[in-house]
Parts: sequence; structure tokens; C-alpha cells
Amino acid sequence: MNLILLGPPGAGKGTQAKRLAERYGIAQISTGDMLRAEVAAGSPTGREAKAVMESGALVSDDIIIRMLGARLDRADCARGFILDGFPRTVPQAEALDRLLGEKQLRLDAVIELQVDDAALVERIAGRFTCASCGAGYHDRFQPTRTPGVCDVCGGDKFVRRADDNRETVTARLDAYHRQTAPILPHYQAQGRFFSVDGMADIDEVASQIAAVLDALPPP
Ligand code: AP5
Repeated sequence: MNLILLGPPGAGKGTQAKRLAERYGIAQISTGDMLRAEVAAGSPTGREAKAVMESGALVSDDIIIRMLGARLDRADCARGFILDGFPRTVPQAEALDRLLGEKQLRLDAVIELQVDDAALVERIAGRFTCASCGAGYHDRFQPTRTPGVCDVCGGDKFVRRADDNRETVTARLDAYHRQTAPILPHYQAQGRFFSVDGMADIDEVASQIAAVLDALPPP
């Protein structure tokens, strides 16, 4: 199964992508996570991307498309993938069409998570992740079961992203509305495009996505 999850920053793409990856045994491909790994490694790509990410703007299409093309060739994509945070511009969407054509792959569904801007700021401001295993949490909406202890690995160190502050979130939302929202008609025109109510709680959003996927016609 090959999927795209679309939506503004903080819409819940990563949260839902992790669940889908587990449920279907497919690869979660987050271009944001890939870029953060490059930044942490201090690679040339990471050095180029760091300031751009911290400003809330989008990293250049050339870098992203090159990174994504190589990622789709990895063995864990053999059973399928879920794209989380890609594509984000019309040129990225067009490049993905070309890449899928070359690899003789097709998309099974493109799912948009719809969330109001005001809710996004609260979600992003409260987000934190386990420093050991990367499990995601929220101060209010998804706290750890035991305060200060990761539910998944028992780790006791947590991190917050450098771009998860109110000023940068405003720039990220602006980039979404100006550069990413214009790709929605691209996928609406291709069919297999679905919108779900991302304002619902995490389990309810997961149920809505499962209902969409369960109703897909066989390949
Ligand atoms: P990226 O890492 O992709 O960030 P983003 O799109 O801004 O998305 P987020 O990770 O912030 O949010 P999410 O939708 O995954 O929400 P989450 O599930 O964590 O990109 C970062 C930067 O990298 C970009 O700004 C750009 O510079 C660069 N970049 C990346 N890809 C690029 C590309 N293709 N092209 C160019 N540049 C690129 O949820 C958020 C919080 O809310 C969590 O705490 C969660 O617990 C909580 N939550 C989730 N769902 C719900 C719910 N239903 N109800 C209540 N709380 C919820």
C-alpha cells in the first residue's frame, strides 16, 4: 500500500503515519525526520537545511526530491510506504509522479488531515518526543502514562524541536497555505483523494483513516 498523508504542521501526520506503518507493515517516510537526521549528523545537506528549517521556510525542492528518490529505493519500501511531509510544493508533487512512473508504482490513497490553524499552534507548542526511541507525546493531548517516563522504551529524556515555537509555527503555517495547499487540486484531480476531520481525537482520526483505507477498491 502506497499512501500520502497531507496536512499543515501539527495536523497529526507523524502520529497517524506511525500507526499506519505498524498496521500495514509499510515504511514511514518523513522528510522532516530525514532532514533532522542530516542536521544532527552535520552533513552538507544538514548544514544547508538547518537555518531554513529553523526559520519555518521550506528546504529547496532539489534537495528534497533527491533525498526522496533515494529513500524509495530502500528495501523497507518493498511492501509500500507512507509519505509524511512530502510532497509540499507543486514541483515536488510533479517529481513524485515522475518517480512513481519510473518505478512502476502507484498511489493507493492521498489523505488530507483538516485542522484549524488555532489548534495547530497549541498542538505544536505542546509536542515532545522521547530522546531514546522517538515516540511522540503532547503535554495535554497525549501525555506519558507515568510522568517523565516514555511509555514505549522507559526512557526518561525527552526533546522538543527547535522549530516548535510560536514564531516559527506562524512561518510554517504561512508556508503551508502559500506553497503546500496548492497541491491539493493536483491530487483531487487524480482521484483517490480523501479528507478526514483532523480536529477529532487521535483514536477517532485513526478510525476515520482506517475506514477510508478499508473501503478502497482492490488494486
Ligand atoms: P516536518 O517535520 O515535516 O514538520 P511539519 O509538517 O511542520 O509537521 P509536524 O511534524 O510539525 O506535524 P505533524 O503533522 O507530523 O503532527 P504530529 O503528529 O507530530 O518539517 C519540518 C521542517 O522540515 C519544515 O518546516 C521544512 O523546513 C522542512 N521540510 C520537511 N519536509 C519538507 C519538504 N517536503 N519540502 C521542503 N521542506 C521540508 O502532531 C503534533 C502534536 O499534536 C503531537 O504532540 C501529537 O501528540 C498531537 N496530536 C496529533 N494528533 C492529534 C489529535 N488528533 N488531537 C490532539 N493532539 C494531536
